Amino acid sequence: MSLLNASNLNKSFGTDVIFSGISFEIQENDRVGLVGINGSGKTTLFKLLTGEMLPDAGDISKSNSTVLGYMEQHVCRDLERSAYSEVLTVFASLLQLEEELNGINLQLQTKPKNIDELIEKQALLNDRFVAFGGLTCRSKARAALLGLGFDDEQMGMPIGVLSGGQKGKLQLAKMLLSGANLLLLDEPTNHLDIASVEWLEDFLRTYSGSFIVISHDRYFLDKITNRTFEMENHRLTLYKGNYSAYLSQKDENNLAIQRKFDNTQKEIKRIEGIVAQQRQWNRERNIKTAESKLKMIDRLENTLQKPDEKLDSIHFDFGINQRGGNDVMTTDKLALSFGNKKLFQNVDMEIHRGERIFLIGPNG
Ligand SMILES: Nc1ncnc2c1ncn2[C@@H]1O[C@H](COP(=O)(O)OP(=O)(O)OP(=O)(O)O)[C@@H](O)[C@H]1O
Ligand SMILES: [Mg+2]
Repeated sequence: MSLLNASNLNKSFGTDVIFSGISFEIQENDRVGLVGINGSGKTTLFKLLTGEMLPDAGDISKSNSTVLGYMEQHVCRDLERSAYSEVLTVFASLLQLEEELNGINLQLQTKPKNIDELIEKQALLNDRFVAFGGLTCRSKARAALLGLGFDDEQMGMPIGVLSGGQKGKLQLAKMLLSGANLLLLDEPTNHLDIASVEWLEDFLRTYSGSFIVISHDRYFLDKITNRTFEMENHRLTLYKGNYSAYLSQKDENNLAIQRKFDNTQKEIKRIEGIVAQQRQWNRERNIKTAESKLKMIDRLENTLQKPDEKLDSIHFDFGINQRGGNDVMTTDKLALSFGNKKLFQNVDMEIHRGERIFLIGPNG
């Protein structure tokens, strides 16, 4: 049973065709890497799958059991809310039930006339609350955040002051708690520190549902995917296997297309030679032969599939007129705090000409 089926999707923005004729199926246990250059339409495809945007043509269908979870590429919503309450929004319907229950409890304390009716309603709502995990939702939210490296203080911080990586983790936590069985992850490793990327790799490797992940990180993709979809020249091509497997299939395909192209071109040259010869003889019979050979050339040219041209890469050259000094920057006992929160102190650095420095550290 397939979880999701997309057929013949087309999408343009104004006169810009982003993609056309895209079809694929996602089965249980599919772990798909979606790759393609910047601006090729990967995020747009996700937005069609989630229903945030409509395709210009084509259909998307999901099975009844499919629950989508979406981790977006760029998000900033309510920046005042705390990290913990943001994660709790996943359980909004449960929290609303809880509020209703509290309301009924208050009413019951006043010994109203319709007490039997209220008690019956209370029992009904309470059953639903328990059945959908109302008793455990808060501890689940907290456990997910702890697992992603948030301590209690950080859980209480407003989203607005969180680092990029912490915001990413918050989104991950929400998606994982939503009970989804088909995850759409748009560059999930962006901004994550090394420990969290490893955590995510482990999580996805053992995840029992399916996912499509957009990433430009081939090492990450190689570890977690078993299919690869490539968005290129407005089309989506489906490959078996992870990123490395995709690369070698693509090389083979390109080689086969190139060989066929070269052979057809040779054949066209050969027939053109015959045409020239026949024309020289210039009898009626020869002219007829030349015409039929020309038709043959037309037919061959129509079947000719050009190998994809290599995309132009950009070259920069920052020529230097005057050589700089050897000491580029020096810092002397730098310190920074936000309120009582000390970020760092006694930072002494000397940066010399030509050094290339890797600055690492956990998120936040
Ligand atoms: N709402 C929109 N209106 C007009 N153009 C858009 C809109 N959304 C995206 N585009 C354009 O569509 C193209 C595809 O964008 P998309 O965000 O899907 O690319 P992407 O493959 O996800 O790229 P990246 O790897 O940089 O994230 C881009 O040229 C983009 O500028
Ligand atoms: Mg994108």
